[in-house]
Amino acid sequence: MSGAPAHRYVVRPVASVQGQLRVPGDKSISHRALMLGGIADGRTDISGFLASEDCLATLAALRALGVRIERTSESAVQVYGAGREGLCAPAAALDMGNAGTAIRLFMGLLAGQPFDSTLIGDASLMRRPMERVAQPLRLMGAQLQTQQGRPPVQIRGGSHLHAIDYTMPVASAQVKSALLLAALYAQGSSSVTEVAPTRDHTERMLRGFGVEVLREGMRVSLTGGARLSGCPIDVPGDFSSAAFFIVAGCLGAASGLTIRAVGVNPTRTGLLELLRLMGADIRIEPRSAHAAEPTADIHVRASALRGIRVPEALVPLSIDEFPVFFVAAAAAHGETVVTGAEELRVKESDRLAVMAEGLKAIGIECELQPGGLRIQGGAVRGGRIDSHGDHRVAMAFAIASLIARGTIEIEDVANVATSFPGFPALARAAGLALQEQA
Ligand code: S3P
Repeated sequence: MSGAPAHRYVVRPVASVQGQLRVPGDKSISHRALMLGGIADGRTDISGFLASEDCLATLAALRALGVRIERTSESAVQVYGAGREGLCAPAAALDMGNAGTAIRLFMGLLAGQPFDSTLIGDASLMRRPMERVAQPLRLMGAQLQTQQGRPPVQIRGGSHLHAIDYTMPVASAQVKSALLLAALYAQGSSSVTEVAPTRDHTERMLRGFGVEVLREGMRVSLTGGARLSGCPIDVPGDFSSAAFFIVAGCLGAASGLTIRAVGVNPTRTGLLELLRLMGADIRIEPRSAHAAEPTADIHVRASALRGIRVPEALVPLSIDEFPVFFVAAAAAHGETVVTGAEELRVKESDRLAVMAEGLKAIGIECELQPGGLRIQGGAVRGGRIDSHGDHRVAMAFAIASLIARGTIEIEDVANVATSFPGFPALARAAGLALQEQA
């Protein structure tokens, strides 16, 4: 939709979705391609770039740091790398908007620069925890200040960073990535050990830029001082965006639904395993299994789902998919129990509380627990949902229209543009009756 952004979706119930579609580029990979391209030597050509608000915030911040970036089409970007010492002091605070990935990765990237910088964001980002990154960066010798743990983050330039051997207390790809970016500027070999595997796009992409990154078990290491060489990056479709249509297909694609050219990095695809445990009919047709980031066409067909107990090991591998997974749980026969998912409380919204409130509003019985939810599958009626400005909550409840008996109105949906511009049009193309209202 062009013009004024929609603030509300009105979604009438429909029985089916079908066809073939492609989702826009991966958000995590688009952020990283810009940042690594920005500090590389030479040019990095990005295709399949996600031109969403979050990634455009990263793009604008890199320009403010002196990197020349040209957009040759909506999804094609040329980054003229400034080189590892080539970033310049920004004239003002860098505004990350709604983007948690941008602010946390920039904390790592800027911690070892010779100039001061300040990172800010929108109301949601200003509430999110930043000490998980600031603390280990301080152990490397960086000087950063947060406001009671939250943005604005002030970074004092000129610190000489030293290597770190750090075990992360939380499973977080953002923390891991921030530390790896800082490690590029630190003296010596740094290691980060994960409590559970998280998305490894930074490690894969650093290797593509010519940096040696070692992985032994749960430990990732790199040595500071390496130079990056610009390279072409083809961003695959975002699995986290495809997830809405994968669940839509499970609920309503009697004749099948295909999502083409989706990134299927195994650190991202936990949702497929969860849905299969529930009895979903999903077929993966690999396209480029050997690329830095594997891609596939995903074929889904409607089937009867049953409730499951979610294995905790799959939580970090499906962390962004829980809003729509909870909708699948509402459609399933029996109870679904999620535990060990306290990280959902510090996303763009408190996704446990906000999803529980929304599910109850459409007639689903569920119980909010400190680190999870218990959801009893059942009949879904229409109702009014407050998405609390959380893009993935808004899109998840649009998918619930496939199992609803009445119209679902979803408020505060403008932030869908942070990750998935074009969602309403694609949803309609697949068969949803979704109307946007200003
Ligand atoms: C991301 C990591 C995850 C995820 C976020 C994107 C990334 O956050 O939820 O949407 O690109 O590294 P955490 O590292 O906080 O788990």
